[in-house]
Amino acid sequence: MAVNTTALGLAVVLSGAIAVFHYVRGTEWESAPDISEEVLERRAASVPETDFPEPYNRSIGGGGAAPAAAVGGEAAEEGELEGETTQGGSGPGDIPEDEVEYFEVEFAKQGETVELPNNQPILDSGEDEGFDLPYACRQGQCVSCAGHITDGPSEDFVEHDNQEMLSGDEIDEGYTLTCVAYPRDDFTLETGEAP
Ligand code: FES
Repeated sequence: MAVNTTALGLAVVLSGAIAVFHYVRGTEWESAPDISEEVLERRAASVPETDFPEPYNRSIGGGGAAPAAAVGGEAAEEGELEGETTQGGSGPGDIPEDEVEYFEVEFAKQGETVELPNNQPILDSGEDEGFDLPYACRQGQCVSCAGHITDGPSEDFVEHDNQEMLSGDEIDEGYTLTCVAYPRDDFTLETGEAP
């Protein structure tokens, strides 16, 4: 009986010690400190400030630099465009009225032959005649306004002012971009014909 009492006492003491140990460990545990704010601030401090308003002014990740480059690029492009405009002073569209020549152009699909001036794009002249002609950019940068000159290589009959879409072969086959093509001879044109 005496042994059992001692064993029981020991068990009680041990259980208590384990409980206390478990409790102490449980209360002393702490999670790792949250340093995310500190990290963000450090990264932000490493990126130069910009003057751009949100949403472009992304101080983290260097996002502010891209708009700066874009703005610089636009400025450069504007400069180039201005330069082109200045140089464009000698294009076919600048032929003075007293020097303008007219050429007979047959619009095959419309069934009409009209005299077109050589200082106006064929597209504009056709529209002046009341023809419903296809177009999109009006700058020689798509093929929406393309037509086909049936008499031979298109540049034997028109002058292209800054067409950027047709290859040399396509021009040799007679294709033309009517929004930037100025007549320089008589010819027959099929509108709405792209290569
Ligand atoms: S309309 Fe786009 S090239 Fe003529």
